[in-house]
Amino acid sequence: MALTGAALVLFITFHCVMNSVAIFWPSAYNVICEFLGANWYALVATMGLAALFVIHIIYAFWLTIQNRKARGADRYAVTARPKGVEWSSQNMLVLGIVVVAFLALHLYHFWAKMQLVEITSHSINGWHQYEGASVPPTAGTLFIQEVFSQWWVLVTYLIGFVALWFHMTHGFWSMFQSIGWDSTVWIPRLKKISNWWTTIVVGLFAIQAVVFYVQAQDNFYINDKDLEKQYMESFMKHAQEEAQELDPQGPEMQKLQESFQKAQEVFAPTMMQEEKERQEKMQAAQQAAYEEYMKQQAAAQAQESTEEPQN
Ligand code: HEM
Repeated sequence: MALTGAALVLFITFHCVMNSVAIFWPSAYNVICEFLGANWYALVATMGLAALFVIHIIYAFWLTIQNRKARGADRYAVTARPKGVEWSSQNMLVLGIVVVAFLALHLYHFWAKMQLVEITSHSINGWHQYEGASVPPTAGTLFIQEVFSQWWVLVTYLIGFVALWFHMTHGFWSMFQSIGWDSTVWIPRLKKISNWWTTIVVGLFAIQAVVFYVQAQDNFYINDKDLEKQYMESFMKHAQEEAQELDPQGPEMQKLQESFQKAQEVFAPTMMQEEKERQEKMQAAQQAAYEEYMKQQAAAQAQESTEEPQN
């Protein structure tokens, strides 16, 4: 329990730092998402993480059953909380279940549309659809845009974070106790450290969720030019690979071109608008040059006809 708990605390801390990158440097965040996509080292890490969660959860149920057995029929004899026993320590299993429910929703929101899609689908049409367009599985900020534009997601995540805070503050120091370290000097110190650590990490998650929600309301992750360029580059990279295996005149190629156009419309509206303005400017300049040329031609013709010798 202690070992898996410690590894999970480290993962959650790393994850929190990574989310901060999405706020301060969103395009770098997408590069990290690509790095942690379906590459072998990322897959090994994900499998290790999944194993940690499963062991942690199975062991938690086993411990609860052992505790209940040990207390036998008397376990409801005293319903008041014993002095010195925290609420969270009595409710670790319930808190853990809320955290797992949050995690299931969270993985459905992100992992299932990112790493899982990379593993299972090699076609752009198999990617997650957002407003009728296929989302590149490495475009982390696009998923943040989609997920956090909904208010209920913010509320559900905040509830999950509260449960995580209680679960971690208790679990963090009790893992030292469970490995037999019950120093009367160190346990209170560890309790303090675990409270601070958890409050900072979970507090940062909550702040990040609010920032993502506010940014998503402004469509920030869709209207930022650097991000748009990155989404379309990512799309193009996959589209080019896919196109190599298709018949250039076939219906699949036609479908791919349509997907590309739709992706441009949905994920790169600023780029599309600028391109439209650039083309309009170019057409206006061509029209003006043509009109100028025609004017000069007309003037030259008029001059010629006045200069023609009168016989
Ligand atoms: C504001 C809060 C959060 C955001 C925006 C967020 C975002 C993300 C994103 C984008 C991914 C997919 C990364 C990828 O597949 O490359 C991910 C994966 C994941 N997240 Fe979060 N996350 C948040 C909070 C949390 C919390 C609190 C936990 C744990 C309690 C958590 C656990 C996980 C796990 C286990 C994965 C799968 C990791 C893997 O694929 O190896 N996340 N998250």
